[in-house]
Amino acid sequence: MIKNNANFQVKLQEIFDSQHDLYKQGNVADYIPALAEVPANKMGVCVATIDGKVFGAGSCTTPFSIQSISKIFGLVMAMNRKGESLWQRVNMEPSGQPFNSIIQLEWEKGIPRNPVINAGAVLIADVLTSNFSASKLAFLSFMRKLASDDSIHIDKHVYKSELSHGSRNAALGYLMKSFGNIEAEIPDVLSQYFTQCSVAMSCNQLASSLLFLANKGIDPKSNEVICSPRDSHRVNAILSTSGMYDQSGEFAFSVGLPAKSGVGGGVIAIVPGYGVICSWSPPLNRFGNSVVGVNLVEAIAEELGLSIYH
Ligand code: DON
Repeated sequence: MIKNNANFQVKLQEIFDSQHDLYKQGNVADYIPALAEVPANKMGVCVATIDGKVFGAGSCTTPFSIQSISKIFGLVMAMNRKGESLWQRVNMEPSGQPFNSIIQLEWEKGIPRNPVINAGAVLIADVLTSNFSASKLAFLSFMRKLASDDSIHIDKHVYKSELSHGSRNAALGYLMKSFGNIEAEIPDVLSQYFTQCSVAMSCNQLASSLLFLANKGIDPKSNEVICSPRDSHRVNAILSTSGMYDQSGEFAFSVGLPAKSGVGGGVIAIVPGYGVICSWSPPLNRFGNSVVGVNLVEAIAEELGLSIYH
């Protein structure tokens, strides 16, 4: 844990500088053309603690496309709204498949393996679309409240780019609808899902917005209950087993924290009882996780001894 703030800020900068050139080992996501426009050498990191400390390095205040990190927030909203019945429509097992895989979904009769692969997130987007009168606004308001920042916005350029390259997500949606596991119309569900993915936030904003998961569901900034301790535990459990997709096992092995990545290059890691790490660097490895992002979280977790498996 951090014993001396000034020393840790220096150490964080050292870790950041030592990782910088690794970005050349990955590839920026280009299946959503707008994401390919982000410079590959952009990079930032933030460590925020539940007792109010914030440490940052690099472009930690630059907004980027949060992409699949949005799946965490949608899941919390859906859990709050639906309670136990949600788990009749989505499972909580690792998939061992790429994040956008469709293969398992037919075998398993339209029940997604977990809420943080694409099939599961499309299902969650349906829950929000079907249960909130203005679901996109509700999502954006939730993000703004959690980050205590009303400037958070949807990147419309990314949204349009996703929408025009979203055939695979549409296929997942229609397959689930054929099994009776989607209530709303698919175009509305996809619009919700792509809106969520297109939210732009910085490392500092993301780390701050997720502190409730490190604090048994209570936002330490406002003392507001965001979810129950049981649901906070459940989200962290799902992030531990599935948040880094088919690299989740390796990530648990080497880092040992609940975590979630997005194809915009962001990675968040929750340190229960302590805080949140958020890193960002656009080039991705073959699993769709940021090369530098994963390495930064690993180096910080090791430096501070943060693994939950110690
Ligand atoms: O569904 C998609 O293709 C994206 N909007 C989100 C995917 C994503 O970030 C997967 N994560 N690594």
